[in-house]
Amino acid sequence: MTDTINFLLTRRSVSGSTLVAPAPDRTAVEKILTAGARVPDHKALVPWRFIVFRGDALQRMGQALHDRALENGFGAKRAEMVRRSWQNLPMSVAVVASPKPDAGIPDVEQTLSAGAVCVSVLNAALAMGYGANWITGWMAFDIEFLQRELGLAEGEYVAGFIHVGTRTTDPNERDRPPLDSITNWLDA
Ligand SMILES: Cc1cc2nc3c(=O)[nH]c(=O)nc-3n(C[C@H](O)[C@H](O)[C@H](O)COP(=O)(O)O)c2cc1C
Repeated sequence: MTDTINFLLTRRSVSGSTLVAPAPDRTAVEKILTAGARVPDHKALVPWRFIVFRGDALQRMGQALHDRALENGFGAKRAEMVRRSWQNLPMSVAVVASPKPDAGIPDVEQTLSAGAVCVSVLNAALAMGYGANWITGWMAFDIEFLQRELGLAEGEYVAGFIHVGTRTTDPNERDRPPLDSITNWLDA
């Protein structure tokens, strides 16, 4: 338990651009996703699912994003940047939010549960010694592209892409808010 709290007190994301191969193997990814799916989920709706990008799938995604960036008018430089960033990744997991609209649980709660999955996947990967980072970017909001390329259903969206790989650097500490600035104690 001491190890767990120490991990939570010191954890830090690792930029995707610094991650290298090897990616976690299939057994390790299954462990990361099993931990990732172990989150609070009101009424056990399971309003999320995973798409795992490895190997050639990263090459295809990089090319598809490149082509889409051009189609969107982002220009050749940005298109090339996104192609390269995906093709250089060891692996990525899309956490797809898959809300159940008629289940009687507010949409926001289902969204929060999907966010919890993102953090849990991220933390599981970090806890296992990999580098990992939660990103979105324009591709997470281009629903038409995601439906066409990744088969997202109507109403689904990407809560986050969690890039995972071997660390090459130790990230610097990032400023955290002083507890007093975010906490109102109601003690009596
Ligand atoms: C929903 C969400 C989307 C994000 N998207 C991006 C992104 O597209 N690009 C980026 O550089 N950082 C993005 N970030 C921030 C990174 O995850 C950043 O590395 C992180 O906030 C660092 O936090 P940590 O060190 O506490 O893990 C996003 C964060 C969240 C929560």
